[in-house]
Amino acid sequence: MNQVLEVLLKRKSVRAYEDRPISAEVRAQLLTATLRAPTAGNQMLYSIIEVSDQALKDKLAVTCDNQPFIAQAPLVWLFLADYQRWFDYFLVSGVQELCDRRGLTLRMPQEGDMLLACCDALIAAQQAVIAAEGLGIGSCYIGDILEDYETHREMFKLPQYVAPIGLLCFGYPTQEQIDRPLTPRFDDKFIVFENQYQRLDAAGFDEMFSEREKNRRKSDNPDAPANFGQAMYLRKFSADFSVEMSRSVGVMLKAWAGE
Ligand SMILES: Cc1cc2nc3c(=O)[nH]c(=O)nc-3n(C[C@H](O)[C@H](O)[C@H](O)COP(=O)(O)O)c2cc1C
Repeated sequence: MNQVLEVLLKRKSVRAYEDRPISAEVRAQLLTATLRAPTAGNQMLYSIIEVSDQALKDKLAVTCDNQPFIAQAPLVWLFLADYQRWFDYFLVSGVQELCDRRGLTLRMPQEGDMLLACCDALIAAQQAVIAAEGLGIGSCYIGDILEDYETHREMFKLPQYVAPIGLLCFGYPTQEQIDRPLTPRFDDKFIVFENQYQRLDAAGFDEMFSEREKNRRKSDNPDAPANFGQAMYLRKFSADFSVEMSRSVGVMLKAWAGE
């Protein structure tokens, strides 16, 4: 099979790592591949912080919804949406004077700039995931980096126009992880449409979720969720971590907007 497709199709999240460091040479290859990611306007609107300080890793394992494997990952990269570097460059380049001369108001980084920088950061992160897989290194995203914005801002000394958007743990997978089956995906027809968006009705959802419903652990407790939708609502959507994530992102957006 095509080697790139082979890497893509066998990739899975790895949350348990061999006690084996990633060599400087392999790390350099991973970084070079990561930085080749496409980037809006070729601006690289992102930064990466390598979290090598064990105390910071230990803290992330707590602030990111108590996930101890973060502290055990040999390599941890924090992906930041970053407009600070470009805006600082604009100022250093004299754009304020340019605006004054032309009678223009200096435009500050806004929501659209932030979202574009988030796209850049996550595209680079995914490039790292695939490059790592090609190098035999497992990875796992930590979405909970979106929680506790105030703590992360302080931990990593983030200025106004830098937002933590992705965290990746890397390490060589344990044999158990290598042997673990791939997770399922939804059928194409529920995800990919032609020309127009297709909303599902109850019968459509029954079909879409039939496999997940079949594999769901059921309980005799009358108060337990009655189906996969209810279970996921409680586990993923209304759970404390999810509520905290929305609060934290709200603060992050306001901080970027200078409110
Ligand atoms: C944006 C994002 C956030 C994620 N956050 C976490 C996380 O905090 N902890 C975790 O163990 N896995 C996390 N994952 C991994 C997903 O659980 C995983 O990709 C999904 O279950 C599918 O499994 P697979 O990657 O093995 O195919 C995250 C993945 C993405 C894309």
